[in-house]
Amino acid sequence: MSDTPSSAAAAPGYYARHIFFCLNDRPNGENSCAHHGAQEAFDRCKAQVKAAGLAGPGKVRVNKAGCLDRCAAGPVAVVYPEGTWYSYVDASDVDEIVESHLKNGQIVERLLTPPELGR
Ligand code: FES
Repeated sequence: MSDTPSSAAAAPGYYARHIFFCLNDRPNGENSCAHHGAQEAFDRCKAQVKAAGLAGPGKVRVNKAGCLDRCAAGPVAVVYPEGTWYSYVDASDVDEIVESHLKNGQIVERLLTPPELGR
């Protein structure tokens, strides 16, 4: 048995990057990401990541999420480990996040969620 304590901070992540899309759908008509193309964006991101050969352990994982509590900026997605929040509009925005951030580690400045926008 090792005397070295485990350190979560030093452990490499199972995925190099993890992107979560809010897919929350409020059926009462209140604003939510699902009303702004979130499912289509999620599907596109997943397909693009797979097509680019980026999917899998040590690479990229694309996941569904419930409300991320930043609905006023929606639709939103967040990328870890950087903790970068994006507010996207259309398919080309998703493609740019995949190509620039998920593939090359370059944040897409023009799509950053305004820091003051929460729920
Ligand atoms: S509904 Fe998407 S962040 Fe709340």
